[in-house]
Amino acid sequence: MRHLLSCADLDLATATAILDLAEEMQQVQSRPVKKLPALRGRTIVNIFFEDSTRTRTSFEIAGKWLSADTINVSAKGSSVSKGESLRDTMLTLDAMGVDAFVIRHGSSGAAAQVASWVKAQVVNAGDGQHEHPTQALLDAYTMRQHFRLMGNDGFAGKKIAIVGDLLHSRVVRSNVLLQQVLGGEVVLVAPPTLVPTGVETWGCEVTGDLDSVIEEADIVMMLRVQRERMAGGFFPTEREYTESFGLTPERLAKLKNSAGICHPGPMNRGVEISSAAADAANSLVLDQVAAGVAIRMSVLYHLLGSNEGAAK
Ligand code: NCD
Repeated sequence: MRHLLSCADLDLATATAILDLAEEMQQVQSRPVKKLPALRGRTIVNIFFEDSTRTRTSFEIAGKWLSADTINVSAKGSSVSKGESLRDTMLTLDAMGVDAFVIRHGSSGAAAQVASWVKAQVVNAGDGQHEHPTQALLDAYTMRQHFRLMGNDGFAGKKIAIVGDLLHSRVVRSNVLLQQVLGGEVVLVAPPTLVPTGVETWGCEVTGDLDSVIEEADIVMMLRVQRERMAGGFFPTEREYTESFGLTPERLAKLKNSAGICHPGPMNRGVEISSAAADAANSLVLDQVAAGVAIRMSVLYHLLGSNEGAAK
């Protein structure tokens, strides 16, 4: 694999291999000495043009635990704030001999664009409203572990409800693509104003009625209301949004006993998810965070662990 730009790049064998290797990588997390020599001598630059806590930190930890030299560049404090173009910035860093870029950018398609310019391998850590493939992989990893714990393996026949701000979410796009490969059934739930155009081509059921799916869902994935990407009013008031689309204590009580609750974070407690749900026994939110490191170790290893993905 040369780059990871989209979940559309993953076939079943590759996705499964990434999930399986992440299981081995997760064992490193519980060791006192968290270091494998696998990527010794490789250089990874994490370049983030948007805010991030968990994605950036987990990529950095993942690189370090694999013994790669990991460098963080944020747009603030780089030459981008002096007016340098994205292309010039990336070519400059590329010329230093970087092996891989992990990039987050506010524009959809930015990661693919960068991949077409540089010699280094590229991981998309979120491009605008387009995709966030490692998030979908860590979500799948967390779900797979949860299904196993509940005594039934595999994604076939599992109902995964993804609820909320679909319009601005790169997480939902990557999850829909990945589940098409893994076999889970995705149901999308949102008010009409937050449903992306063209959703009918995604091959999922779309509904505005959360209560009609809550009792059947095996996973409920709540998405953050992305206020920073909203120019106008997408719903009347926050209270009304919560009433119709929030995982309130009342809806929490309606979930199947075996259902798991996911949220990619950061959470808006009291808006899309109540504290009762975020902190519930069946909340998988922190499992997702833990899985994030293991999945990113696995992805970096798949990209850089052999030379086959490198530019000739
Ligand atoms: C998401 C993102 O940035 O796309 N968060 C994340 O990576 N964990 C979702 C969000 O910002 O709401």
